[in-house]
This record gives sequence, C-alpha cells and structure tokens, in this order.
Amino acid sequence: MNRKYRKTVIAGNWKMNMLASEIKPFIEELKANMPAKRACDVVLCVPGVMVPAMVKSGKDAKVAAGGEDCSCFEKGAYTGEVSAAQLADVGAKYCVVGHSERRQYHGEDDMLVNAKAKALLAHGVNPIICVGESLEQREADLTMEYVAYQVKTALSGIDATALRHCVIAYEPIWAIGTGKTATAEQAEEVCEGIRAVIRKIYGARPARAVSILYGGSMNAKNAAELLAQPDIDGGLIGGASLKPADFATIIAAANQE
Ligand code: 13P
Repeated sequence: MNRKYRKTVIAGNWKMNMLASEIKPFIEELKANMPAKRACDVVLCVPGVMVPAMVKSGKDAKVAAGGEDCSCFEKGAYTGEVSAAQLADVGAKYCVVGHSERRQYHGEDDMLVNAKAKALLAHGVNPIICVGESLEQREADLTMEYVAYQVKTALSGIDATALRHCVIAYEPIWAIGTGKTATAEQAEEVCEGIRAVIRKIYGARPARAVSILYGGSMNAKNAAELLAQPDIDGGLIGGASLKPADFATIIAAANQE
C-alpha cells in the first residue's frame, strides 16, 4: 500500500453466493468486528439483483455496493443483461469486469472487458478490471507478457482522467478459490509490472495514483503480508468476504501503515 499516492480498496466479491435477506445481518456483524475508523474504501460486490439491498444496509456502515458484471451495451434488446446505467441508478459505486470466471464460463475477451469498463465509466461507476494468468502461462514464464496485454487492451481508449476511476485487480487464475495464494513476492512482482505498463501509457503521475488490488485466496491470515507490499493497494476477496469476521480482519489489516 502507498496511501500517499492512492487509495486502499478492500472489495469483496460474493459471486453467486448469499441472499439479499442475509445482507442486513451480515453488515451488522461486519460492523461489530471492523475498525470504526478506516483508512480504506470497503466495497461488497454482489449479484445485480442484490445491489439495492447492499446499498441500503451498507450506507450506515460505510460499505459501498458494487456489481459483479455489466453489459457493454447502453440499453436495448439484451434479455437478461444489466446495464451500467441500471447499476448506477440503484447506487452501485463499483463493478467488477473481466473476472476470470466470466472469461472462462462466458467467453469474455479483453475487448469486451474494455467496452464494459467504458460503459461503467460513462455512468460514474468505478470499474474493477480483473486480469491474471493461468497456471500454464505462469509455468511457461508468460505471466507478465500476458497480463501486460490484458491491461493494455482493457484500458484502450480510456484517458488519464477516466483512469483515476479505474481499479485494477491482479487475480492469478490458479490462486482463485484454490486456497493457493500467490506469495507476497509473486503478487508484488506482477502488481509492480502492471503499474509499469500503466506508466508507459499514461506517465508517472497517473500510474502512481492507480489502485492495484490482489485477489486469489486472500484471507484473514495472509492479508497483512500481501497488503504490506508497496504496489498492492488492497484486495479483491472471494471466499473470505462471505465471513464477516474474516472480512473484518482483512479490513483491519488494510488499516495498518
Ligand atoms: P477467492 O478469494 O475465493 O480465491 O476468490 C478470489 C476472487 O475470485 C475474487 O474476485
């Protein structure tokens, strides 16, 4: 973390878990466990249908609501899709795009991720753009090359002003939901590399200001070490964000200097 230049963001990604009716008790327990004074933004990204309940319950606890995906289209005949305007209208402040599960199960590519990020930016919702390599790519020593490509493509046509509203999440696919976390060194190396890619495109100042999160089996035990890395500005947390006490511990770790 480097709070002098950029904000720390602790974002949960609930994926397709929990029910809207479980949000209020969850937030109450989270509130009871997390520090009242916080040096980070706390976000819970939830299925679109649950965003209004998260907005309502999260308000008091200063927990922002986020979506997990959105359409790249503005509006129209796209049955089943949720638009960026609709997310913004119900109070979402953030939205995940390009999660590896979307890429894997829904065939999403980097151009689509770019279009989704732009749609969100047009409606004042901060995109959390996910990137990350597979195990095969890591073993073939292709990690940085691939992640650099993902970052460049996802940010294509986004200017420096809009970049300020973007968050990048580095999520190595092999670490997601596997209990196998990247070491702090591995995670820092790629997050630093992502910042270098952004620096090449936008220059030093905008690159310094972008929050880059790590995601992939981040939990109450390993969060402090990961967050102590200079280029890791927070976390995108799946499993551990479903447990209020664990999520609160991660938030507390983000409060450390
Ligand atoms: P886990 O924390 O469950 O590994 O999930 C990470 C993730 O995919 C967050 O988007």
